[in-house]
Amino acid sequence: MAINITWFGHACFLIETNGAKLLIDPFITGNPLAPVPADAIEADYILVSHGHGDHLGDTVDIAKRTNATVISNFEIQNWFVKQGLENVHPQHIGGGFNYPWGRVKLTIAQHGSALPDGTYGGNPCGFLFYIEGKKIYHACDTGLFFDMKLIGEEGIDLAILPIGDNFTMGPDDALRAVKLIEPGYVIPIHYNTFDVIKQDPNAWADKVKEETSAKVALMKPGDVFKL
Ligand code: NI
Ligand code: MN
Repeated sequence: MAINITWFGHACFLIETNGAKLLIDPFITGNPLAPVPADAIEADYILVSHGHGDHLGDTVDIAKRTNATVISNFEIQNWFVKQGLENVHPQHIGGGFNYPWGRVKLTIAQHGSALPDGTYGGNPCGFLFYIEGKKIYHACDTGLFFDMKLIGEEGIDLAILPIGDNFTMGPDDALRAVKLIEPGYVIPIHYNTFDVIKQDPNAWADKVKEETSAKVALMKPGDVFKL
């Protein structure tokens, strides 16, 4: 069965698999590109990569409404519990856990992670999903790092990479990331949400096609990619 992967703009995806809805970095309210309002989104699990507002987003509201299990690092979990969330599952970098729908491992990310009120949010992370025999790497917010090669050694079917520059990898480093990871497919994200991260995804896709064997899936917010 295909895994349905919907992009809600920026770094937010909904992965539907094995009867579970996995929502990643739900920045909907305040996201000018979000195709739906936050209260229209259902989730069984919400994964939060780091404490910045454009990733933490609507997590608390959606989790309270849906009773979704929130997966994040230990420091962010402690903060969620203080916001009144009870259904939380802390993990940390390098650690994987087998959920009923599959496995997720937290990967390193080179970035920051303070929470909106200034609370220390631990280290930011990316996510490596093992679902229905497929491997999906969502790098979340990060600069280029050589250990992406180690992640690529696992055999990545789909890599989701930021290309926006300024806060994360830009197009050139994201192209180098594709060369390190060697994924089957790549989806560029974290661009054009704000003026400082304006990029041309078509130009980037052309370079990836020229210089790597990865297939680029260019999405518009609201589009569904089937893996
Ligand atoms: Ni960030
Ligand atoms: Mn961000």
